[in-house]
Amino acid sequence: MRILLYGGSFNPPHLGHIRSVQTSAAALRPDRTFLIPAAIPPHKRMAAGSPSPEQRLDMAALAAAEVSDCEPLDIELRRTGPSYTSDTLRQMREAYPDAELVFLMGTDMILSLESWHEPEVILSLASVAVFARETGREREIDECAAHLREKYGAVVYVLEGQPVTVSSTRVRELLPERKGREYLAGGVYEYIIRRRLYGARPDLAWLRERAYAYLKPARVEHVRGAEAMARRLAERWGADESDAAEAAILHDCTKKYDRDGQLRICEKYGIIPDKWEMENDRLLHARTGAAFAADAFGAPEHIASAIRWHTTGRPGMTLLEQIVFLADAIEENRKPYPALELMRKAAFEDLDAATELCLRRTLAFLGERGESIHPNTARTREFYLKKLEEKGVAPIEWMPK
Ligand SMILES: [Fe+2]
Ligand SMILES: [Fe+2]
Repeated sequence: MRILLYGGSFNPPHLGHIRSVQTSAAALRPDRTFLIPAAIPPHKRMAAGSPSPEQRLDMAALAAAEVSDCEPLDIELRRTGPSYTSDTLRQMREAYPDAELVFLMGTDMILSLESWHEPEVILSLASVAVFARETGREREIDECAAHLREKYGAVVYVLEGQPVTVSSTRVRELLPERKGREYLAGGVYEYIIRRRLYGARPDLAWLRERAYAYLKPARVEHVRGAEAMARRLAERWGADESDAAEAAILHDCTKKYDRDGQLRICEKYGIIPDKWEMENDRLLHARTGAAFAADAFGAPEHIASAIRWHTTGRPGMTLLEQIVFLADAIEENRKPYPALELMRKAAFEDLDAATELCLRRTLAFLGERGESIHPNTARTREFYLKKLEEKGVAPIEWMPK
């Protein structure tokens, strides 16, 4: 029996790791393969969005799922104190007394192997497999392999294979820029985004594909229009364009659910609908959408709140909230309705005036139809009317017919 062991910090595990395991498994034909996430000493932890040991194990499991007969092993994560490869191999030897253990390592690791803790123990318990991480180091590796064989009687497999051109460090740098998805297995990427590990922000093409799956087909055009408008408004008013796009892409993500569906989502996320939301369940999708976007897509607070307030608005909205509120109302695919063109124009001239007009129009519309009016809608309109007065800006002239 041959067991392939691949240790690393896997922070996060990327396609380079997966290719390494696949290539070495093809050459060595192990019966089983284990990915072993190493314990990271506390001083090496990155600050924001650092994954917990459990999360690194979860990600290793998702990466392992890409390789046949491969699974993660938490022995190094469970150990306390300094974590040594020699200890890991002792444990593995105990569990598999008759197997050949093959320890897969990167170029840098094998070249520095003699400076590790108990190299003689490592090389007596396991064979070593290595392949060139960088090109042009084959000779160095061959010499090192010969030396280890001679000095320790080590079994060293030098594998042919593509150099790995990405590092976890690079992937961690790319994720907050909405990049780096191409270096990760789909499951690992989704896991990271859902928890916003490493400060990751979703690739917007990926997010669209995922989020549109929750829409009725007829609503996709509206959401596309809202995204385009939110981007234009963000550019005009100096907000983060990609955050505005993200919020717009997600803003109606629970809209398709009927009253029962909305109430079920409310229950799941502990949302207690108020009296007006119970009377008019169309209002609920803003609240359920915010909770769902946070849960399923890891939407951070400032994006979730833009979803939360996109129907009624709220007094003192953030710039992003105001942009999403208006983009939803005035996007280019909206069918014409009273005051729409005035709002579209105003949105690029005075955001508060456009907001006030939008709310005034909504109040008139609901009044005409005899529908109940959510106090937030009325309160928000009051707030922006007062804000205009304080700024010395006259409200836009428009009277409902
Ligand atoms: Fe909506
Ligand atoms: Fe909408």
